[in-house]
Amino acid sequence: MIVNTELEQKGNLFPSKIIAYKKEVDTLYFSTDNDVVLEMTILRDSVIRFRYTTTGTFDKDFSYAITKYASTGYNLLEIEEEAESYKVTTSKLICHIKKDNLKVYIFDAKDHKLINEDELGFHWEESYEYGGNIVKMSKTSHDGESFFGLGDKPVELNLKGKRFENWVTDSYAYGKGTDPIYKAIPFFTGLHNKKAYGIFFDNTFRSYFDFSQERRNVTSFWAQGGEMNYYFIYGPKMEDVVANYTDLTGKPHQLPPLWALGFHQCKWSYYPESKVKEITSKFRELKIPCDAIYLDIDYMDGFRCFTWDKTHFPDPKRMVKELLDDGFKTVVIIDPGIKIDKDYSVFREALENDYFCKRADGPYMKGKVWPGECYFPDFTHKKVRDWWSDLYRELIEDIGVKGVWNDMNEPAVMEVPNKTFPDDVRHEYEGNRCSHRKAHNVYGMQMARATYQGVKKYAYPKRPFVITRAAYAGTQRYTSTWTGDNVATWEHLWIANIQAQRLAMSGFSFAGSDIGGFAEQPQGELFTRWIQLGIFHPFCRVHSSGDHGNQEPWAFDEDVTNIVRKFIELRYQLLPYLYTAFWKYVEEGIPMLKSLVIYDQEDVHTHYRSDEFIYGDHLLICPILEPNARGRRMFIPRGQWFNFWTDQLVSGGKEMWVDADIETIPVFVKAGAVIPKYPVQQYVGEIEIKEVTLDVYFKDGKESSTLFDDAHDGYDYTKGRYSLRTFKLTGKKDELIIQQHKEGKYDAGYQIFKIKFHGLPFTVGRIQVDNEDIALSDVKMNGDNTMIIDKGFSQLHIFGK
Ligand code: NOJ
Repeated sequence: MIVNTELEQKGNLFPSKIIAYKKEVDTLYFSTDNDVVLEMTILRDSVIRFRYTTTGTFDKDFSYAITKYASTGYNLLEIEEEAESYKVTTSKLICHIKKDNLKVYIFDAKDHKLINEDELGFHWEESYEYGGNIVKMSKTSHDGESFFGLGDKPVELNLKGKRFENWVTDSYAYGKGTDPIYKAIPFFTGLHNKKAYGIFFDNTFRSYFDFSQERRNVTSFWAQGGEMNYYFIYGPKMEDVVANYTDLTGKPHQLPPLWALGFHQCKWSYYPESKVKEITSKFRELKIPCDAIYLDIDYMDGFRCFTWDKTHFPDPKRMVKELLDDGFKTVVIIDPGIKIDKDYSVFREALENDYFCKRADGPYMKGKVWPGECYFPDFTHKKVRDWWSDLYRELIEDIGVKGVWNDMNEPAVMEVPNKTFPDDVRHEYEGNRCSHRKAHNVYGMQMARATYQGVKKYAYPKRPFVITRAAYAGTQRYTSTWTGDNVATWEHLWIANIQAQRLAMSGFSFAGSDIGGFAEQPQGELFTRWIQLGIFHPFCRVHSSGDHGNQEPWAFDEDVTNIVRKFIELRYQLLPYLYTAFWKYVEEGIPMLKSLVIYDQEDVHTHYRSDEFIYGDHLLICPILEPNARGRRMFIPRGQWFNFWTDQLVSGGKEMWVDADIETIPVFVKAGAVIPKYPVQQYVGEIEIKEVTLDVYFKDGKESSTLFDDAHDGYDYTKGRYSLRTFKLTGKKDELIIQQHKEGKYDAGYQIFKIKFHGLPFTVGRIQVDNEDIALSDVKMNGDNTMIIDKGFSQLHIFGK
């Protein structure tokens, strides 16, 4: 029986009164007299896991989402028995567990304000059809409470008043509101009374979230099987909630190679080799920077993974090398469906070793994808993943391919009503054998994991690059992602903006959309506006199905080409800024894109804003989402901001009109920021960087900025060979001080910074570097407020006249 609502079923069962409790280091067990046990583990002072059983005993504990690197091991918890409840205290939270019904109430330990409370709390329904329970939880929600997260949902950022389903689904040409689509990330953040908390429901079955849709003051979530098993994560800052969730489910295992943050060009499909070369040569000829070229399914022999169509690609190794010599890294697609073909070695090996998924009664899971009838490896089996990762040896080590694109891994199956495996398909699930009902949402994640493992192994000592379409919580550890088959419409530009922000606040920052739209063809104006947004997404790739025409930067008219070039150049200039944001994400789990609500949750005006976002720490971006626009109204968050194009200073905390004809989009820089820039390159590493520009934006006050750098590939940075510079800016009416602090053992090749001052409210009279006066002529203080300085300075002091 499919339960689509949390209440409508009459068979709900509830815990009765607590009869005993037990404490073990960081975990408490509360048992009721109808055999419900609540296992409550304190992972950190602000992170608590709640896990329930209805039979008195728990099944084996296993999760694909939670990383072994998550910080855990809290041992300071206190428990007190009170008249009506048990009280559990950490340094940040107080939880009351009611004795007569097991309901949980969570308070801030400092001001004792209620953060989250059970409404019906845990309840369940027995599943006659499948065994086990349909597990449910309902919480009280409040007027004025907002909800965010859930991965790739293509609706307004604030989820209040809506219901969602988590079931990864191939969704060609999905639209605003389509649900579910490609990803299942059952994590949301609630924001109420200026305090943010998160709930991660770690259950891989088909699950549902209802944010005050069914009942006005109730938030509920439930799943069609498995355990009620969720993590409560307290902020109170939303950014900390996201960072803590990302710590739990994992930060990317390493930085991407810097080239992966460049511009990527893709199409279904570029072939034969001469076509690929024609495209890459055109980029160089027109001087449009580009780092990666993609080969979609047509490079294969009859769509057989790990093979090449030798008519169109007679010598892949030579081609890949020639592309690389020209700065292009080749990325190839690999799908999960393996063609049934007794003469195909990958098929034979998997068959002989029993690696394919089977139906409940024994036959193989057979389904149609591009190659025709296929079988599908069971990626939830370690043995299968190891085999799969070894299949990459030739592609990566021998042929020299630099990245792998995993597609159709929901898994998508054609010509069947539910577009995927039937429920009865069996999976190994790391020794916890189960049906597809439980494994579906992690199938794509485990495929991407196996791919990552292989690419990493064979690319070593270089870093791997992988991209996946399907994902469950935690997939960000292994790979980047894109938002699937969108459409070349203005509405989809809006969706792309939402999805990149939403994925970032769901722990998955390394994401982007098919720029220009996958299905259909954009007008030049839409393509331009999409590029103007896409260059500010961590993953930046043009892709299209190609059946409606071309989508390269020169496929429209010369004006489009010129504007697109200018924006891709800007992406390349901002690479050190983007790389620093990536490093913060990998180190601390800080989202690389911050929706305004994350940036300033205290200002209620941000709670329903969807268009504007902060890119990295200091840049405010707002895409143009309509045709024929000469600008738009947008919300500028509180504080002082410089218009990136004009240097005009504006005060935020309000909505305003911003000019942006087709040449620009609204971009603002936070006052006090130090923005690092590289010179334009046609691809990462094309030129030796001789100087880095620091754009310094004056502020009357203090602001701090960082610049991370390393070798841009390889793992030396993990052994201390990185450089982390902090610039502390202090501005006053007639002076400006920048203090630099450096840590790490890496020394970039360049010696100098070119500092460019923006918005100085005074004329420069005197300059001191490390407390010594410098002749203005020595530092080449130019008319345009630019100076050259040795990168090793500790303090730069500028005095007004
Ligand atoms: C579906 C993917 O979403 C799309 O990006 C790709 O081009 C096609 N499959 C063909 O491989």
